[in-house]
Amino acid sequence: MYNMLFQSHSGLWEITILLFIISFILLKMGKPKGKKITQMILRLFYVIMIISGLGMLITLNFPWLYVIKGILALWLIWMMELILSKSVVRKESGSSTKSYWTQFIIALVLVVLIAAKIISF
Ligand code: HEM
Repeated sequence: MYNMLFQSHSGLWEITILLFIISFILLKMGKPKGKKITQMILRLFYVIMIISGLGMLITLNFPWLYVIKGILALWLIWMMELILSKSVVRKESGSSTKSYWTQFIIALVLVVLIAAKIISF
């Protein structure tokens, strides 16, 4: 069971980030229809990542470092959602997504460092 969750989680996280980048590029290229489709798939991937992550947390009996990793991953997902929605608004209102990008990078780096066991206590 754990293996199945781990395999799907570790196989899909790169595709999740890639789908986010593709959605952002499509948005900036002025292709809202294409972006809508990739964003829909991206949201499905969020769900799979959260369910497989939660499943692993339950199997591992909630080790606190991975609980933090899960919370950081939720923050990462939230930033991806904000960037994709605020970037649409930006065209009209001119508000900046710079701070969301900064948070996206910080959350991504922390999640990967904890997941790769480079950060451990
Ligand atoms: C888009 C969001 C996420 C990303 C990018 C991500 C990334 C990763 C990566 C790179 C790994 C290591 C896989 C490997 O070693 O091959 C991992 C493992 C793991 N993730 Fe996530 N994750 C995300 C969401 C979540 C969520 C929401 C939770 C918890 C609710 C979670 C809990 C875990 C756990 C428990 C592990 C197993 C660590 C281990 O046994 O080595 N992840 N994640």
